[in-house]
Amino acid sequence: MRRKVTVVGGGFVGSTTAQRIVDSGLADVVLTDILEGSPAGKALDMLESAAVTRSDASVKGVSTGGGDYKETANSDLVVITAGFPRKPGMSRDDLLRANYDVVKGVVEAIVKLSPNAILIVVTNPLDAMAQAAYKISGFSKNRVIGMAGVLDSARMSTFVAQELNVSVENVHSFVLGGHGDDMTPLPRYSTVAGIPLPDLLPKERIDAIVERTRKGGIEIVNLLKTGSAYYAPSAAVLDMVEAILKDKKKILPCAVYLEGEYGINGLFVGVPVKLGARGAEEIIQIKLTPEENKELQKSAASVRELVSVLGV
Ligand code: 2OP
Repeated sequence: MRRKVTVVGGGFVGSTTAQRIVDSGLADVVLTDILEGSPAGKALDMLESAAVTRSDASVKGVSTGGGDYKETANSDLVVITAGFPRKPGMSRDDLLRANYDVVKGVVEAIVKLSPNAILIVVTNPLDAMAQAAYKISGFSKNRVIGMAGVLDSARMSTFVAQELNVSVENVHSFVLGGHGDDMTPLPRYSTVAGIPLPDLLPKERIDAIVERTRKGGIEIVNLLKTGSAYYAPSAAVLDMVEAILKDKKKILPCAVYLEGEYGINGLFVGVPVKLGARGAEEIIQIKLTPEENKELQKSAASVRELVSVLGV
C-alpha cells in the first residue's frame, strides 16, 4: 500500500521537505498552505520534476485557507512546518504566541481527518510547539515528535568535519536539550570514526564548535536576512520520515514528551529516541556527568518557561 505524508506549510521548509520526500519515493505527498494557488503550483512543478528524478510518488498541493483539509485525510504522517519564521534580531522564542495559534488551528483540523497519523512538528519554538501539538491532538506521546536534534547534530557534524578535514560520514554528533540557545551538545558522546571528540581536539576548539552549533540557526538567519534555514531542516525531517515509514528503529535525537526520563517530567525536550513504525518507540537514556546534566536541566528550564506561558 502506498504511504501518505501531509506537509503543512508550503514555505521553504515545507516545500523542500515535500520535494525530498517525493524524490525519495517514500510516500505520496500532500502539501498544504493557507495561500491560494502557490501550493498547487509548487506541487505540480515538483510532480513534473519526479519524471526526471524517476520517482512515482504523487504530490498534490492544496490551499487550506478556507479551512478545508479533506485532501489530507488518512495521512500516515503529518509534518507541521506552518508558522512565522525568524527574522534577524529575533529568537525562536519570539515566535511563541503567533505560532501557537497557527499550530493549534492546524492540529485541530488534521487530527479529525488523520486520527492514526504520526505528527512531526517543525514549527518554532520547536519544543513548545511540539508540546502544544501533543496536548491539542490528544495523541499518545509516541505519535508526536519534534524535529530539532537531527538538525542541530548535523550542524555540529559539519563543523567537526570542517575542523578535522575528514569526511562528514565519519562524524556522529550528539546534541540534547531544547532547540534553543542553550541546547546541549555533548562532545563526549560525539565521535569521529568511533573516536570521542575530546581525544581529537583541544578543549577550546570543541568549545568553539559547541558555541557555533548553538548559534547555528541564527547564523543562517543573519546570512539570509529574509527567513531561516530550510535545506538542513528538511534533510533532517526526511531522516525522521524515512526511519518511521521504513520502521528502521533508528536512534535519532528528537524532541519527545518526557515523563521522568533524564529527571524531566511533563515536558518536550530533545533526547535520543528510537524511531520506527510506531513513532517514538523508545527513549534511550545515557549517563551524563553532573556538568552535562546541569546544562540539560538549564535547557529544559527554558522550554518549561515557554510552555508555561502557553499553559500547555
Ligand atoms: C533553525 O535552527 C529554523 O530553528 C531552525 O535553523
